[in-house]
Amino acid sequence: MANTIRIAPSVLSADLGRLAEQVRMLEAGGADWIHVDVMDGQFVPNLTFGAPLIKALGRITDLPLDVHLMVLEPERYIEPFVEAGASLFTFHPEATVHVQRHLAAVRECGMRAGLALNPSTPLSFAEEVVDDIDLLLIMSVNPGFSGQSYITNVTAKIRRARTLLDHHGSGAFLQVDGGISPETIGAAKGAGADTFVAGSAIFSASDPAAMIGELRDRCKEGVSV
Ligand code: DX5
Ligand code: ZN
Repeated sequence: MANTIRIAPSVLSADLGRLAEQVRMLEAGGADWIHVDVMDGQFVPNLTFGAPLIKALGRITDLPLDVHLMVLEPERYIEPFVEAGASLFTFHPEATVHVQRHLAAVRECGMRAGLALNPSTPLSFAEEVVDDIDLLLIMSVNPGFSGQSYITNVTAKIRRARTLLDHHGSGAFLQVDGGISPETIGAAKGAGADTFVAGSAIFSASDPAAMIGELRDRCKEGVSV
């Protein structure tokens, strides 16, 4: 498990007019999960998708739908999203009050529970709920848009997150999201991440399916930092 790498392309950068075709291409390229960025125009400035898109994706693919909520009061979407077919439900602790209660509710309804930390959000938010999470998402950009640059200081935080999870014997996925490319994925992997979201790197590549393989290969090179 620890050596398994997961690549989760973000459909935020996909051509939504050709969604089914794009998802087939991601499957052909060996994508492990499909990352769905839900934004409410309040927690982040951008406005994107909701349950209807998750449902549409579920009809297109059997890959796990990795839903990343950048919304206020994410608990309002636990039920609608599990019904729509989400497999993983990841939210930000600043967006709600009773984080532990909502993580538990996510698990109770059969999804995996994820906690996402912005670049300036302390890792201690995760430490307090480490037994309640199946995934820890370290944001390597300030969320809201694809196509931003990887914040290099976050690499040290990924390393601390790896130590935290190992120290507690947690098998949670350690995911990184934002600015992941062939140039940056090695640093994140070397610091201990095992699950990588990529939007623009994949969809702006001349061969997006091949880019998924290239990202995976860069991980195998095992850059240690
Ligand atoms: C950023 C989103 C990301 C985004 C990643 O707010 O959470 O998932 O789609 O896009 P890239 O890989 O282009 O930074
Ligand atoms: Zn995301």
